[in-house]
Amino acid sequence: MTLKSKLPGVGTTIFSQMSQLATEQQAINLSQGFPDFAANPRLVSALAEYSAQGLNQYAPMPGIAALREQIAVLVQRCYGRAVCQAEEITVTSGATEALFVAISATVNPGDEVIIFDPAYDSYAPAIQLNGGSAVHIALNAPDYRVNWQQVAAAITPRTKLIVVNSPHNPTGMVFSQADWLALQQLVSAHNLYCISDEVYEHMVFDGAVQLSANNFAELAARSFIVSSFGKTFHVTGWKLGYCVAPAALTAEFRKIHQYVTFSSFTPAQYAIADMLKQHSEQVRSLAAFYQQKRDNFATLLANSRFKLLPCQGTYFQLADYSAISELDDVAFCRWLTIEHKVAAIPLSVFYQTPPQSRIIRFCFAKQHSTLQAAAEALCQL
Ligand SMILES: Cc1ncc(COP(=O)(O)O)c(C=O)c1O
Repeated sequence: MTLKSKLPGVGTTIFSQMSQLATEQQAINLSQGFPDFAANPRLVSALAEYSAQGLNQYAPMPGIAALREQIAVLVQRCYGRAVCQAEEITVTSGATEALFVAISATVNPGDEVIIFDPAYDSYAPAIQLNGGSAVHIALNAPDYRVNWQQVAAAITPRTKLIVVNSPHNPTGMVFSQADWLALQQLVSAHNLYCISDEVYEHMVFDGAVQLSANNFAELAARSFIVSSFGKTFHVTGWKLGYCVAPAALTAEFRKIHQYVTFSSFTPAQYAIADMLKQHSEQVRSLAAFYQQKRDNFATLLANSRFKLLPCQGTYFQLADYSAISELDDVAFCRWLTIEHKVAAIPLSVFYQTPPQSRIIRFCFAKQHSTLQAAAEALCQL
């Protein structure tokens, strides 16, 4: 018997491949995007305490009310938008689940969805599984800005949805006010939906104002806005995220969420609700925390032959290695891991049609000692 694959073009993700190679080679892993430092001890003990108290059974399908209330407070504080915790917020098993559910709620067979390459790897397969087709628009080095005229030209009568991601993984590009307004204009004028993947929302650097689809009322009225506590609280393994969307969209979202997972990790919801309520300074200080890591990493690499690209947000740093090697980026990353014991991610894997560039992505969500050891190896090249 052979099962007809629904995703024939998909194999093991590059993130799993590079992390596995990094482990085999005992290399410093700057490939996959996760911190190598501990979460706030208060958060970790709150999880243990809630579990010890017996809060280990199914949470309510949309998430516990205490957490949804704190998400509403956060959205109000960061973006000045009032959202109803009962009808407009759903807690999910990571942003990954929220993205999958939002795409499933919107995309019907034959629909087109605009996504921007380099794109986070879960968007296109989710679109394909729902019978839609991804229309890829390439963003280019060095600043990876969106050309909104090109986006307007790509819209057809079959276009249903635009997926955006700001701050952007892997490039570190952050939408300006003008970008958000252009997106809002297109989405309204063409009667589209938007999924705004904002998992790095609290990591915007150099004093820039952190903007969100939540700031733009017409856009927010047509958007599923997705975020991740894994990124914000250094607990990617807890897989806890959420989706903010108007009541009518949330109703459809929840119909699917309840059959994908029903509800998410209960004690973690209580622990995160406490953190948001009692220690919201952790969210406020995140941008400065990661900006310092970005700057330290850049200083450590100042004498290397890597050319660092601009990084306005996220915890990723792109680097051009054309002064070091003529290998393509996949081969270069393998070579770097095996021969020099530092793992990174090739940029080409985020593109449908990769550009002819020699650029790789490093994750700087690492302890200073990790970044220092990696930089020592990288400066020898
Ligand atoms: C752009 C983007 N969206 C979504 C996710 C998934 O987030 P989560 O770990 O909460 O599922 C990631 C994780 O790397 C990401 O980089």
